[in-house]
Amino acid sequence: MTMTPGLHKFALTAHVITSVGWFGAVAGFLVLAVAGLMHADPQVVRACYIAMGLTGWFAIVPLSLASLLTGIVMSLGTTWGLFRHYWVAVKIVMTLPAIALPLLHMQPISRMAGAAAQTTLSPADLSALRVQLVAYAGAALLVLLVATALSTSKPRGWTPYGWRKQHEQRTASQL
Ligand code: HEM
Repeated sequence: MTMTPGLHKFALTAHVITSVGWFGAVAGFLVLAVAGLMHADPQVVRACYIAMGLTGWFAIVPLSLASLLTGIVMSLGTTWGLFRHYWVAVKIVMTLPAIALPLLHMQPISRMAGAAAQTTLSPADLSALRVQLVAYAGAALLVLLVATALSTSKPRGWTPYGWRKQHEQRTASQL
């Protein structure tokens, strides 16, 4: 089922805003994660981890889910489909872990924000988790960068499933 032009414009706007907003939220999270790891002032470190907890819950998680949802709507409401073109299929395979990982790691992020709110963190406190947060945010940003580039360039290439579907549709229209 393809969308009407008006609905398509509306859904595409929602998809681009949520997806690029997600990218921006992860970029902000990365800045806070690096500052939380490197900054000498304990007050700044404390503020960084509290802000990261808020950014995770109220920006990254909702925007990532909204991007996935609007992306599925864009795929099913257009001729792109979910698994017909490699660029869409690769985008799904790449972004699903980027959505699942923050969801699975919100608990330690909240733990970190809670610890920062209650005590002054020394550079050694929870250091493995702090390094991990920088690595996760960097990897997620890279994935979203590639997803954006794939979306704007839309490289050609049908999947075997896409070929089969296209062939079936051509045959049906000739009958
Ligand atoms: C996994 C879920 C996703 C799916 C299924 C999906 C699917 C799609 C589809 C089918 C379109 C084409 C719409 C059209 O032109 O009619 C599109 C456009 C777009 N997507 Fe996604 N997307 C997903 C996630 C993302 C992510 C994570 C980003 C970037 C962070 C992103 C960025 C964009 C952009 C910028 C466009 C507009 C491209 C243009 O019109 O030139 N998408 N998406």
